[in-house]
Amino acid sequence: MLRTSTCGQLRRNDSGNTVTLAGWVDSLRDHSGVLFINLRDRYGITQITITSDIGDELFQLVRSLHNEDVIQVVGVVQQRPEGIVNTKIATGEIEVKAAHVTVLSRSAVVPFLPASPETPSEETRLKYRFLDLRRPAMQRTLELRSRMTKVMRDYFHENNFNEIETPMLGKSTPEGARDYLVPSRVNPGTFYALPQSPQLYKQILMIAGYDRYIQVARCFRDEDLRADRQPEFTQLDLEMSFVEMEDIIEIMSGLVKRLMNDVLGRDLKLPIPRMEYAEAMERFGHDAPDLRFAMELVDLTELAKTVEFRVFRGVADSGGRVRAINAKAAAEKYSRKDIDTLNQWVIDNFGAKGVAWLKVDGDGNLTGPIAKNFKPEELAAIKSKLVAEPNDFLLFSADTFETTSRVLNGLRRRLAAELKLIDPNEMNFCWIVHFPMFDWDDEEKRYVAMHHPFTAPLNEHLHYLDSEPRQIKAQAYDLVLNGFEVGGGTIRIHDGAVQEKVFNLLGMTPETCRQMFGFLLDALSFGAPPHGGIALGLDRLVMLFAGCDNIRDCIAFPKTMKASDLMTGAPDVVAAKQLDELHIATKKT
Ligand code: AMO
Ligand code: AMP
Repeated sequence: MLRTSTCGQLRRNDSGNTVTLAGWVDSLRDHSGVLFINLRDRYGITQITITSDIGDELFQLVRSLHNEDVIQVVGVVQQRPEGIVNTKIATGEIEVKAAHVTVLSRSAVVPFLPASPETPSEETRLKYRFLDLRRPAMQRTLELRSRMTKVMRDYFHENNFNEIETPMLGKSTPEGARDYLVPSRVNPGTFYALPQSPQLYKQILMIAGYDRYIQVARCFRDEDLRADRQPEFTQLDLEMSFVEMEDIIEIMSGLVKRLMNDVLGRDLKLPIPRMEYAEAMERFGHDAPDLRFAMELVDLTELAKTVEFRVFRGVADSGGRVRAINAKAAAEKYSRKDIDTLNQWVIDNFGAKGVAWLKVDGDGNLTGPIAKNFKPEELAAIKSKLVAEPNDFLLFSADTFETTSRVLNGLRRRLAAELKLIDPNEMNFCWIVHFPMFDWDDEEKRYVAMHHPFTAPLNEHLHYLDSEPRQIKAQAYDLVLNGFEVGGGTIRIHDGAVQEKVFNLLGMTPETCRQMFGFLLDALSFGAPPHGGIALGLDRLVMLFAGCDNIRDCIAFPKTMKASDLMTGAPDVVAAKQLDELHIATKKT
């Protein structure tokens, strides 16, 4: 070994021992003839002192060191005198007096110092990821991630699950996001698709009798990226046989409790609260509601049908909705200019026509430019519906159910952040259950699966398949943490005839069904157990456990918003010969 101890290890009772340390020069200071190095490795920082009695040659060598050089130090552990104990670091009671120093590797001048509390731009961080990953904050997050996957694996192995790998090179199927394709050299003109998830393989494993499966699975989706979305990401993927929704919820709740305990040392009370999808949409305008604060959506549509204000009346009369939120005690915090910004923001981001507002003044009167459109008793009704008190700030959206949901969910989250209504330490879990089976795609004039096409309807809704598919609720459940969807799953269809019916409703002809999903329909015809499962978004879960605000900080080598890797330069052009072998011609756009 090139070292006897790590840089985070030595304490007062090691005093007098001769040790060998190795690591990076975090800083080098020269205090009138005594050199101090903060030596850093994954485990921490140890102060090294170098005095002239080390010999002139070595002293000059140390003096020539730069930040991020890699060195090995042999020396004696010394207790620091009382007054100069450094309480900020774990090794602060000691220092190592160097007897010998060896340079293991020199560093070029770094574009930024990993030790610096200021983080450089994300572009610089991603380009020099090897330096960025040296930052203690990054190392802590990736260590946390590793511990989380270990806890998951331990938990599931204790519960008799098998971890089974499924292929990366698979078949492209419609539905879901866009696929990443891989050309086949030996089968000219054909393509594999990278898995968007191991969904069908894990179902096949259930049909094959494996009963309890998990996998820490890489997934690939070519979709527009956001702070909580990467083109390749990781799922803790699970499937079980002979189960119902309750069983999946129970085993996953147990996992979450275990993670909270083992990783954060915190207790989580079970059961995790549950909410119907429809209720979440009504009360919060979103299927992954942030329940750390209130500011719930209030419906004013009936009232709006009786008022003269045309923005409200027109929408309410034509089948739309008028809904509002009450930002308590926020009236004075939002100036006209701030409100103009909010108005433009909802127009730009949520396809809204605007947001209307009223403030409650000190005497309890509603004020604002739209106030004049209402009769006194209407203002009183609005106040009472929104339980409005002096200094409250009321925001209204009049539009379709979908648009009012988007607008008020957006405003609700934004205002909560601006008004600091959120306790950053809270971990608020909930299950959202019984999603609709289908969405109607107005552009393509067809149904699309809200989760995926293998999801089973509630048994009592099966009959709607032939009459009113939009009425069908699915045996579907999402796990939500602090307003993020951290997992989603369903009980699956295990009856081939029902599966075919669903494919048909999604606009697939019997021929396309056969061509795309023949293997699934075949498998279902050979004795399929009732089964279901779920996948947790590992990156998102780590993000929330680590207290980060984007998943790029929880992934060692993430991609940018434009899906490129700034360190390696991927994606990149390839040699003409490679394309030739793959029977591919590119066309520049
Ligand atoms: P779903 O598509 O809901 O379900 O994915 C499961 C969870 O994965 C996370 N997730 C992502 N994380 C980062 N970047 C992305 N682009 C991304 N997309 C999804 C989310 C999500 O809740 N096969 C089904 C699961 C099942 O039915 O068992 C599936 O993939 O946290
Ligand atoms: P107007 O009378 O058109 O000037 O609108 C009055 C206020 O209502 C303005 O603040 C608009 O931004 C807002 N507004 C317009 N359309 C809507 C809508 N659909 N929902 C909520 N507020 C709106």
